[in-house]
Amino acid sequence: MEETQNILRDSFGRDHSYLRISLTELCNLRCTYCMPAEGIALSPKSHIMTYEEVYNIAKIFVKHGVSKIRLTGGEPLVRKDADVIIEKLASLPVELSLTTNAVLVDRFIEIFKTNGIRTINVSLDSLDPDKFLQITRRNNFDKVYKNIMLLVNEGFKVKLNVVLMKGFNDNEIIDFIELTKDLPIVIRFIEFMPFSGNQWNKEKLVSLQYILETVDKSYDESTIMRLTDAPNDTSKNYQIENYKGSFAIISSITNPFCDSCNRIRLTANGQLKNCLFSTTESDLLTQYRAGENIEPIIQKTIQAKYKMRGGMDTNKKLEDASLHAQNRSMITIGG
Ligand code: GTP
Ligand code: 5AD
Ligand code: SF4
Repeated sequence: MEETQNILRDSFGRDHSYLRISLTELCNLRCTYCMPAEGIALSPKSHIMTYEEVYNIAKIFVKHGVSKIRLTGGEPLVRKDADVIIEKLASLPVELSLTTNAVLVDRFIEIFKTNGIRTINVSLDSLDPDKFLQITRRNNFDKVYKNIMLLVNEGFKVKLNVVLMKGFNDNEIIDFIELTKDLPIVIRFIEFMPFSGNQWNKEKLVSLQYILETVDKSYDESTIMRLTDAPNDTSKNYQIENYKGSFAIISSITNPFCDSCNRIRLTANGQLKNCLFSTTESDLLTQYRAGENIEPIIQKTIQAKYKMRGGMDTNKKLEDASLHAQNRSMITIGG
């Protein structure tokens, strides 16, 4: 008989139907808020899931109710067999998507199309090539911008992720929104979040409130429309009247959305994280390789999920660097 117990429901009644799979710890950029300056200790290659393991483990989650899979990294497209993984996962009954820095996107357009990928989230933190270089430590602005336009012209739905940092790119909020006048894209401003080695402090935070005040100063109030958010959306969505695209704010710090969380994460080395901010993980890969049934481990991990931000539920805890240090660096979580 089929398993009927919902192993992906946590103790707060949240069902986890959205699996984020990190395909690699490697990246072709070096974003300062993501990759620690001193680099990271990479997992040995033998500890990274093969494409068959990614597929077989994903299949178990799908059997239990996962209906959306997002591929992340590092940068998912630097993985040599990214095309094979996309093809395998596309055969499952899920909405498949990915988050990328877009450097390699031009090589994957046909693969995305043939495998039903319609929405692509792209990280881009500045429209100024010099600042792009400063934040990513790589001179790839033109390539990335061109690839974003390619995606738009090829009919993909594009969401641009902009991590805002005080004094660095907070003066670009309106420039980004102006892109949506003629482009049917979504700009998502993201509050800077703390992870191991990323030098987070609250002075660098550009809050939802600040973003909305900036918007209010630049546009007539009657033209700023609050859109309806999709269920389980991380973002609060807005549009300037008559603009083709829209903008949104992801406010994990000042207005968390954990009550409607439906996300779990599988890292490239096969660890299950029940929250972006979880400081503990469960080793699915070792158990899977040993031929064990991993369903009980999955269930236990989901049951252990905290109500909010992996237990960092107050500002005081958020500001405690020793807690960030217990989590991974973002590069090995994948957002
Ligand atoms: P959609 O599937 O299009 O809603 O995208 P997404 O927002 O889930 O994914 P994406 O990879 O584009 O991430 C955008 C930002 O949202 C990143 O800064 C992520 O770290 C953040 N984010 C994604 N998932 C979560 C989550 O579960 N919790 C929190 N707090 N932030 C998240
Ligand atoms: N805070 C907020 N967002 C982050 N991202 C990476 N690091 C951080 C951070 N410290 C974003 C990237 C990418 C997404 C997966 O996560 O910009 O778009
Ligand atoms: Fe879910 Fe954790 Fe993100 Fe909150 S912080 S939305 S609980 S993954």
